[in-house]
Amino acid sequence: APKRRLVVVSNRVAVPRHGRTGGEGGLAVGVKAALEESGGMWFGWSGKTVEHDVGEPEAAGLFEAGKTTYAMVDLTRRDYEEYYNGFANRSIWPLFHYRLDLADFNRRYLAGYQRVNALFARRLAPLLRDDDLLWIHDYHLIPMADQLRHMGCRQTMGFFLHIPWPALEVLLALPNHRALVQSLCAYDLVGFQTEDYRRAFVDYCQRELGATVDAEGTLEAFGRRVRTGTFPISIDTQSLAEAAEEAAGSRQIHRLRDSVRNRDLIIGVDRLDYSKGLLVRVQAYEHLLRAYPANRGRVVMLQIAPPSRMEVPEYMQLRHEMEAACGHLNGAFAEFDWTPVRYLNKGFSRRMLAGFYRTARVGLVTPLRDGMNLVAKEYVASQNPEDPGVLVLSRFAGAARELDGALIVNPYDLEATAEAMQMALALDLEERKDRYRTMIDRLRSHDIDRWREDYLSALAA
Ligand code: UDP
Ligand code: G6P
Repeated sequence: APKRRLVVVSNRVAVPRHGRTGGEGGLAVGVKAALEESGGMWFGWSGKTVEHDVGEPEAAGLFEAGKTTYAMVDLTRRDYEEYYNGFANRSIWPLFHYRLDLADFNRRYLAGYQRVNALFARRLAPLLRDDDLLWIHDYHLIPMADQLRHMGCRQTMGFFLHIPWPALEVLLALPNHRALVQSLCAYDLVGFQTEDYRRAFVDYCQRELGATVDAEGTLEAFGRRVRTGTFPISIDTQSLAEAAEEAAGSRQIHRLRDSVRNRDLIIGVDRLDYSKGLLVRVQAYEHLLRAYPANRGRVVMLQIAPPSRMEVPEYMQLRHEMEAACGHLNGAFAEFDWTPVRYLNKGFSRRMLAGFYRTARVGLVTPLRDGMNLVAKEYVASQNPEDPGVLVLSRFAGAARELDGALIVNPYDLEATAEAMQMALALDLEERKDRYRTMIDRLRSHDIDRWREDYLSALAA
């Protein structure tokens, strides 16, 4: 039988060459690799906002690149405010990352969210063929299948959530939680990063909706059968390892090494997001310098933190707090010939990052909550197998479920995190190699291709 066409839908579309330099998140990375191989269509937001409503119905803008057709829609300034800055990034994002204290719920945001999901559905529907496989991504677009079904679309539709699914008690704080979950039941398959998140979803459905679930994880709710599954997203392990090896010989990486000299480099790479535990990371590092003063002048931390969602006030607030924290640390500890933290508000290409990771003795990944965290995986894949660095990883990253060769920490425990950093700096070569090997084996067998194949074969089944 001919292969069915794949139609991917996500808010953020990584358009070739128009892409941002670095800073594109895990979703774009994973989906791009998936479409490059199988071809199909990628539908989503153009990244542009327009002042006035351009009037409907306007077709999505189309263009081809390689095997992929890109179909994108502009958003009005108001849609962007209410849907993207509003409901997606001030209601769902904080709540699903357990930051009730930062969440802002209101009906204007919710209406904008539903309006844009309906708009996307209206613009996508005319482009669909009967036997397309639809793969819809992430928290921006939860209601989209429901919208498409109301328009009569009967295609197979799968959803994948890149971020955590919160525990029942947390989700109950969302004013429209029931309607949101009900709209998820319009999909044929709902995928999660980890078994914990999947179970939290099933738990909600059983206890709040009275759904039944069988041993395979198929739910019956609202008269529909919805399959659930766990599909941890991953990276292109092989090509990243190659990029890291090549980058190691590049001029920039030589410059980095010259500047670090004989000190140990500790690296962090994160969007400037409060879920990433950036502040506790700086505090844990400060603790390392206090509790183990021999590290002063001997280690350097490089924190790469491209700004993200800067129109959302909580992100701007974090930016100020990080500036204060890094400025304070450097002011308190720097010497005339040593600066403890290099803090950069800009993004780098993954190729450059691979070289940075390989140069760093310690990779520091301390999210307070994270769906997966690809940086953790990239750090491991980039290491020199003969002299690998050590990953210090938060237990609250989805990646902690797979990367058991890391030093796993509770990032809220600053002293324990500092201890783990100290241990990471001191591990001997044999143990570093052992830890690296268990992790790289896992990343070789579970790479981005495996993720796509596992998800799509479950969806098509
Ligand atoms: N990234 C990048 N350049 C940067 C910072 C990050 O290309 O300057 C990439 C990084 O290599 C990784 C992705 O962005 O592939 C971040 O994914 P992750 O799952 O760690 O976090 P997210 O940003 O999706 O929350
Ligand atoms: C995370 C989300 C993605 C999002 C990315 C970057 O990875 O799961 O859906 O695209 O962050 O955030 P942005 O708001 O810039 O798209």
